[in-house]
Parts: sequence; C-alpha cells; structure tokens
Amino acid sequence: MKREFRDMLKERGREELPQVLLVSAECAPLSKTGGLADVVGTLPKALKKLGVEARVITPYHRVIKDKYFGQTEHMFYFYTELGWRREYVGIEKLILDGVTIYLVDNERFFNDRIYRGDRAELEQYAFFTRAVLDAIPNLDFVPEVIHCNDWHTAMVPMIARTQYRGCMQEGLRYLLTIHNIAYQGKCGFAQVQDLLSVEDKYYTPEFMELHGCANFLKAGCVFADRINTVSPSYAREIMTPYYAEGLDGILNARAAQLSGIINGIDKAVFNPHSDKSIPAHYDRGHLRGKAVCKAALQERMGLAQRPEVPLVAMVTRMTEQKGFDLVTAVLDEMMSHEDMQFMLLGTGDARFENFMREAEGRYKGRLCAYIGYSEELSHLVYAGSDFFLMPSRFEPCGLSQMIAMRYGSIPIVRETGGLRDTVIPYNQFTGEGNGFSFANFDAWEMLAVVRTALRCYGNKEIMQGLINRAMQADFGFALSAQEYARLYIWML
Ligand code: ADP
Ligand code: GLC
Repeated sequence: MKREFRDMLKERGREELPQVLLVSAECAPLSKTGGLADVVGTLPKALKKLGVEARVITPYHRVIKDKYFGQTEHMFYFYTELGWRREYVGIEKLILDGVTIYLVDNERFFNDRIYRGDRAELEQYAFFTRAVLDAIPNLDFVPEVIHCNDWHTAMVPMIARTQYRGCMQEGLRYLLTIHNIAYQGKCGFAQVQDLLSVEDKYYTPEFMELHGCANFLKAGCVFADRINTVSPSYAREIMTPYYAEGLDGILNARAAQLSGIINGIDKAVFNPHSDKSIPAHYDRGHLRGKAVCKAALQERMGLAQRPEVPLVAMVTRMTEQKGFDLVTAVLDEMMSHEDMQFMLLGTGDARFENFMREAEGRYKGRLCAYIGYSEELSHLVYAGSDFFLMPSRFEPCGLSQMIAMRYGSIPIVRETGGLRDTVIPYNQFTGEGNGFSFANFDAWEMLAVVRTALRCYGNKEIMQGLINRAMQADFGFALSAQEYARLYIWML
C-alpha cells in the first residue's frame, strides 16, 4: 500500500483501505453508450492495483444477457416494492478481468434499450435504485463507500438516508460523480412519490425540487457526502449558471465537498501497438503502421486513396453537446475550400445525422458519414485519421480526445472542461503543444483553427513533433485511480 494512504488511514484510526461499490447504468465492456461506461469499467481495475477493492452493480441489460448468459452465477433473488408494484430482482454475479460485477436482473425494465427515454427511463432507474438498496445488505461484500454516477443512480443516497435508516451498515458513505450535468432526471413529484414513496416534505428547494420539478441529480447533490466531476475545469464551470443547468445554487452551497478528477483511458484496450481492430501496429517512433491504417480506413469508407491529404475525423454522440451546430454551420465552407477528407462515425439527433448523410452525397470520395455505433470501427478511425475534431459546447472530461492522442490523431478542440485540461494548444513560437484549440463557441473560430491545423499538416517536422507529444501524453487511469482512492479514504 502507498505510504500516503497508510498515513491517511492511520489518522482515521484504521489500517485497511475502504471497500467501494460503484453503482452505474452502464459498464464497459458489458454495456456502453458513452464514456461513463468506459470509466466505470476501468476504474475498479486501476483501483485494484492500488489495493482498493471496488465492485460494480449495474443492470443486467439485454445486450449483456445476449453476450454473457451462461457466464454469470446466480446469487439470489427477491421481490421489491416499487410504489404499489411488486417487482422481481435477481442478482447475478460476473467476474471480468478480476473485477466483480453484480447484475440486477428484471426482464420488464432491462429487456431492451439501456435508456428507454422519458417516463419509462425514470421507471427503469427508480426500480434500479430500489433494487440496489435492497440488495446491498445481502451481497457477499460489505462496501463502505457507495459511488453513484449521474442522475440514474443519484437518488441512492437520498433514499438510503431517508428510508433505510438502521438497515444499512453504520457509517456508509456516498459519493456522487457527475459525468454530465445536462441530464438530471426531471419529473413531476407525483411520479417520484408513486415510484419511490418519497415523503412530501422532500419536495422543497432545500431537497429535491428545482424549478417546479422533482430532480434526481439535485437530490444526489444534496444527500451525497461528497460530489465530484470528471475534470478540474468542469468542476469550476458547473459552479456557474452557463454550465450548471440550474444546479449552480446547490453546487456553490456545497463547494467545499465538490472536486474534479480527470478520467483516464484503458491503455490496454486503446493501444496502437497491440490493438486487434487495426490492420497494422505502430508506436511513437515507428509510424509506418499508421499510414497503413489510414489507407485501410480510406478504402473501407470509400474515401479516395490519397495518403498526402489530411484526414479529419469525429467519433461521437451526435448531440448539441458535441458542437454539431458548429460543424453544420461551416462544413461546406471547409470542404469546398480545403483539400482534405472528413470521416464521421456517430449516431444521435436525427437533424445532425441527416445533415451528415446529405453532406456525404455532396462530397463523395472525400467525406464519409457512418451513422451508427461500432466499437471496432472506432479504433480504425482513431488510428487512420490525422486530426480529431471535438468542438464541444461543454465537455465534462472527454475520452475521445485522449484516445485520439494515443493513436497519434491530433485533437482540434474547444477549450472547455476536460478538453482544456488534456489538450495543450500548439505554440508555433516555442514548438510546444499536442493539439489545437479555440476559445469561443463560434463556428468561424473553429474553422480558422482547423485551417491552421491543415497548414501544419504540410510541414513534416511540425506534424512529427505534434504526433510525438500527443502519443507521449500519459492518459492512463493510474493517476485518476489514486485520486479516487484518496477521496474514498478522506470520506471515511
Ligand atoms: P461521451 O461520454 O460524452 O459520449 P467521451 O469522449 O467521454 O464522450 O466518450 C465517448 C466514448 O464513446 C469513446 O470511447 C468513443 O470512442 C465512444 N463512441 C462514441 N460514439 C461512438 C460510435 N458511434 N461508435 C463507437 N464508439 C463511439
Ligand atoms: C460523460 C461526458 C464525457 C465524459 C464521460 C465520462 O458522458 O459527456 O465528457 O468523458 O461522461 O466521465
């Protein structure tokens, strides 16, 4: 155990590191729609290396059942009360890469999409909250910190503290990590009462009411012992009205309990030296393989086989968060004046998907819009592209830019949240930096920076330096895990 941890524990009159249970709607590689899954999948592995036992509890989604059925061990089942309904809860156990994952089984709530949207999604995760709380005392594991993630699991501390007094172990602590404040789980109070039997007295601005709605994430911010988010910059940003989506009041009130811990990526999964999803391997000093990947990507996606042309890529959820308004505003200007190729892998809002499909028609052979989700293709896009565009309106952390850098694809980002904390803008005078960035949420500012990046592409020396520094950056999870371990100990 690290000496620092031993000293911290000693101050608290104990010797062992705390046991942690992560509660999450998704967990890679079992179920994934975005970065939350990656973080919940990777953090326990990194914590284990530090001696912290962290386990995960997550829904037994259809996608998991399809792939892992037969590999899970049935632990126990019971019936729980969701308001007036009696619902089955099965607890299955799966051990993956040395990490124990508890799967909450219920065919009614988890038999199709991870997120059903609207009211159905609230029901799914109200059920999950109840099932988790009922299951905890019966697990073969005694957690001391319950680590909740985003609004889907943010009601756990409140329900535990108001309805489970005496049922849970003494001194149990709750951490809430905000991965994305834009989604809060808002609904009418009657629905929360109906599903989770919350007493009237909690429907006030002091507890879970915000702007006339019941708000799951706010309840989490009020009742968790500590709150953190996924980068130091975003932790500061969400204390301001522009980024906080209404939660700046409670977050300022709890500023002393709020911190930012930058995420990392799984360096074993995202490794250009050994990645099974790419046709050739490479590393910092030997980039020939990257050229092979670029040719393979061009061929597979119907882009002209031109090694000398810069290829700009995006791998993303297609939402306003990711800056698609900027892309749609200047894509034509960019494509018609620059000798470049553009590759998009993404899915999301129909208006953005349609815009990109149409653009593909206008720029055949130069622009490919692959509308869909493909883990395997994403690796080839990171490896085969020269630049990675991520002009987010807000970005709590962002994993894509870190993955891109690891594959030597130079990020072009807006200076916000975790993008600001991970991308160092290129400085032509000192030669420092590992990417390009712009400050304002402005399409023309983005375009100007894209143009600067494309000019640099023409200069081998500059490009080589950028790739070198980008691939050198250490975005592994080890440092993040250390910070989480510190936070857990601190909470005891
Ligand atoms: P967010 O969680 O906000 O979507 P992140 O950058 O934190 O953004 O994480 C996104 C993760 O999801 C990355 O691992 C990225 O490669 C992956 N991803 C996003 N869209 C797709 C897609 N269409 N196909 C494959 N992977 C995707
Ligand atoms: C959210 C954020 C993203 C972050 C991820 C993991 O989806 O949008 O920025 O990297 O969570 O924390």
